[in-house]
Amino acid sequence: MANHYQGIIKAYPQYLPVQEKSIVSLCEGATPLLEAPKLAERLCPGTTIYLKLEGLNPTGSFKDRGMTYAVSKAHEAGSKAIICASTGNTSASAAAYAARSGLRCIVLIPDGKIALGKLSQAMMHGAEVLQIKGNFDDALRMVKEFSQSGKVTLVNSVNPFRLIGQRTLAYEVVDELGEAPDYHVMPVGNAGNITAHWGGYKTYFEEKKSKKLPKLLGFQAAGAAPIVLGHVVENPETLATAIRIGNPASWQYALEAQRESQGLIDSVTDEEILEAYQFLAREEGYFCEPASAATVAGLFKISRQNNFFKAGEVIVCTLTGHGLKDPDNAIKISPKPKLINASMQELEKVISI
Ligand code: F0G
Repeated sequence: MANHYQGIIKAYPQYLPVQEKSIVSLCEGATPLLEAPKLAERLCPGTTIYLKLEGLNPTGSFKDRGMTYAVSKAHEAGSKAIICASTGNTSASAAAYAARSGLRCIVLIPDGKIALGKLSQAMMHGAEVLQIKGNFDDALRMVKEFSQSGKVTLVNSVNPFRLIGQRTLAYEVVDELGEAPDYHVMPVGNAGNITAHWGGYKTYFEEKKSKKLPKLLGFQAAGAAPIVLGHVVENPETLATAIRIGNPASWQYALEAQRESQGLIDSVTDEEILEAYQFLAREEGYFCEPASAATVAGLFKISRQNNFFKAGEVIVCTLTGHGLKDPDNAIKISPKPKLINASMQELEKVISI
């Protein structure tokens, strides 16, 4: 057991300093890079596409990378409670790490607009769950103000330790591929993750652990695309509830990441998200949540423009959350199971093989 994997803080201690006895980990990180040959074939033959399976983190999303570090630092600072606003995944992750460390956890979520799996996680881990008659942006404004008292630690991505932890995703990609990819694609909601990806790639580049930097391609849902539109969206709407955000906290950092990397931030419709969501599940065998599929929806969209990608290029997509987080959307768009009698005759009748 001497060298068994113990999570990102132990894997990257030089970037995530914290005293040993304060570390709160659930062995997050070290997620697989799964090749997606059918996606590459459809997009541009000769490219190599990898899916970074962040749904395989302990609570089923990339949030665990930031949460292990933010909660460890809160613990180190002697905090007794953490608070966050969330479209679901941050609350699930905060609740789990709080449970592990013995901190009190308060989460504010938009009423009725949270995927069932995520809500069940926050409840099961014993968080105090408050449903706000408002959206994520209202909840974030409230927790920011509430945490100013200093009595609770805010663990949304405005907490700098969150984004420092999330940078490890980029480190893992370069460590595994031996170089940065040509493109890295991710969904954009509160815009923390695109900021963290860029921070991670820049760190490695400056330290000469990679020779190049990727172009970042970020995708918002069309009904919640403030960065693309250039103005706050008062009533964001999308079935990808994880990214149903109208006023992202890291808006300016996301624009910087896009500009510096010479990438782009664009939007995809809910129909395009659903097509990619089904493609990934049915063609590549990987079930992610709708917000995560915005990456592939975006790739489909831009590849329709002439020769966007070229043979030989390497593209990494961050699939941010697991499909089981949101069973409702999956069931809604899939054919219903057939109900049959428990008879061989009927079985033979329905299966024509
Ligand atoms: N994908 C998933 C599955 C998410 O849960 C989120 C954000 C994002 C993408 C977007 O990442 O906000 O860093 O741009 N979820 C947050 C939450 C807002 O509360 O769980 P971002």
